[in-house]
Amino acid sequence: MFQLQGITKVYKKRRQEVVAFRVEHLDISAGEYVAVVGPSGSGKTTLLSLLGGMLSPDAGKLLFEGQSLYDLSLNDRTRLRREQIGFVFQTFNLVPYLTALENVQVPLYLNGIKPTDQRTRAISLLEQVGLGDRLDHKPCELSTGQQQRVALARTLANNPRLILADEPTGNLDPESREVVLSMFDAFVRDGRTIVMVTHDHSAAVRAARKILLRDGQIISDSNDAMSRSNCA
Ligand SMILES: Nc1ncnc2c1ncn2[C@@H]1O[C@H](COP(=O)(O)OP(=O)(O)OP(=O)(O)O)[C@@H](O)[C@H]1O
Ligand SMILES: [Mg+2]
Repeated sequence: MFQLQGITKVYKKRRQEVVAFRVEHLDISAGEYVAVVGPSGSGKTTLLSLLGGMLSPDAGKLLFEGQSLYDLSLNDRTRLRREQIGFVFQTFNLVPYLTALENVQVPLYLNGIKPTDQRTRAISLLEQVGLGDRLDHKPCELSTGQQQRVALARTLANNPRLILADEPTGNLDPESREVVLSMFDAFVRDGRTIVMVTHDHSAAVRAARKILLRDGQIISDSNDAMSRSNCA
């Protein structure tokens, strides 16, 4: 699904340069569940933003399904993101003045789904995350865990093939955390792909592959470790 070749992302602040992320080769296949872990500032969000088409690298090529993501026009990249990728953030980015139902309808509306179908699908998704009785609540009237579940329902609305999640369980109570992680498990069982940044060890162990970053570099990748032990 992803092939990264010679990717570098550098931030320049005054005269100081920070290599936020650098990798020679990284492949992520369709159907993988990848946890990206590492200390604060190690480049996790930078990697996720690169994968999501939101941050162009300073050097290298990033292929998504064989297409060079950053050679696409901005419009094509935006469309691809909207149609194929679901994002889950630590801060949920819900629209504050819309209800839970309306928030979930937004991506459906943007994809041209007709209003009655938008409503039916949004209700069904909110029921799946256990919020069937909170359809008309605005984000400020929901608990943090409930807000993250609305955000997850919104992420799933367009049936993405890939979820990119940045600390999706960061602020959650145990029950909401389990709702999110169980939906991720089901998503992967369905053959779809997740790349999840997390500090939460018990979330990371649910992923089949673990990539550890430090100072913008991959210092271990459980896939490499596995292929090495296969060779031995
Ligand atoms: N917009 C920016 N301008 C300058 N430097 C930045 C910018 N964004 C990130 N950096 C730097 O790039 C490095 C990687 O940042 P990144 O946000 O990817 O880290 P992270 O692993 O997600 O950290 P955290 O766990 O705290 O979220 C850090 O050293 C950070 O200071
Ligand atoms: Mg981060």
